Amino acid sequence: MKIIKKLWCWEWVVYCNLLLAALVSSKNHGNPANDLVDIINKNRTAVKLSQLSNSPGLGCMALQYVEQCKGNCSSNNTLTCQPSEDDFTEVFAPNCGVELPTFGTVSGRIFGCQHKYLDPSEAFLHVVAQNSKTVSLLRNKTFTEVGVGLVGAHKHKGPYFWCVLLSNSQRNTTFVLQDLGEGIKQKKGCYSGTSTPCSGAPNVGVFPYFYTAAFFSVYFLKIFL
Ligand SMILES: *[C@@H]1O[C@H](CO)[C@@H](O)[C@H](O)[C@H]1NC(C)=O
Ligand SMILES: *[C@@H]1O[C@H](CO)[C@@H](O)[C@H](O)[C@H]1NC(C)=O
Ligand SMILES: *[C@@H]1O[C@H](CO)[C@@H](O)[C@H](O)[C@H]1NC(C)=O
Ligand SMILES: *[C@@H]1O[C@H](CO)[C@@H](O)[C@H](O)[C@H]1NC(C)=O
Ligand SMILES: *[C@@H]1O[C@H](CO)[C@@H](O)[C@H](O)[C@H]1NC(C)=O
Repeated sequence: MKIIKKLWCWEWVVYCNLLLAALVSSKNHGNPANDLVDIINKNRTAVKLSQLSNSPGLGCMALQYVEQCKGNCSSNNTLTCQPSEDDFTEVFAPNCGVELPTFGTVSGRIFGCQHKYLDPSEAFLHVVAQNSKTVSLLRNKTFTEVGVGLVGAHKHKGPYFWCVLLSNSQRNTTFVLQDLGEGIKQKKGCYSGTSTPCSGAPNVGVFPYFYTAAFFSVYFLKIFL
């Protein structure tokens, strides 16, 4: 009896730690698209460039953009993806609920894929600032707005796709989402400019903990009853 009690105590500690780990990682993985926008802006302000406004309309279209590329990630993490220009106004904007009269100019795009899930800071290094061409895009003075989209090819499994759209249109009055900025709810992935957490991709760190926690809970009940 004493041994069982001791065992129970020890495992309760393990359980609490797992639950804590799950909570912490779910907090970190709220919306990595917003984190990436913050990193981009920090990188710009460090060289005295203006911050870019975080546009949910652009972000949602960035998510739509990578939605189309899901089959095109090569084994060396190279993404081939060139949707037609018309897709922006004919597919991405309507799917997001971007009001067409407010559609501005998409003047820069950066995209990439990774088979492993990357934290936003790693995604900045390996996807956004992947080469001198993309770094010079990030440093373009004329840009005013940015949007980031992120999605996993399979639920909680890679490869993961990132897209950054940049615009030099008038801040806040372009790429406006209908329904007072709510737009059309997206089924998968996440995008910047909203507080909606990611579905699918960035929960990767959380789920194994929840399963383990659930397993331990059942285990405790068995000891108890
Ligand atoms: C900005 O990003 C570039 C490209 O990755 C990097 O070389 C530079 O150190 C970054 N600057 C800051 C202040 O983080
Ligand atoms: C990655 O793979 C693609 C085709 O799968 C190839 O065209 C490209 O050159 C490769 N890139 C590198 C850096 O190896
Ligand atoms: C995906 O790759 C295929 C083959 O390279 C290409 O034909 C297709 O246009 C690509 N898809 C997109 C959305 O660019
Ligand atoms: C910055 O972006 C604008 C609009 O896309 C482009 O016309 C210009 O050439 C870019 N400037 C640099 C230095 O790349
Ligand atoms: C655009 O919106 C941001 C916050 O959403 C705000 O800080 C900024 O002042 C706005 N800019 C203009 C030109 O209205």
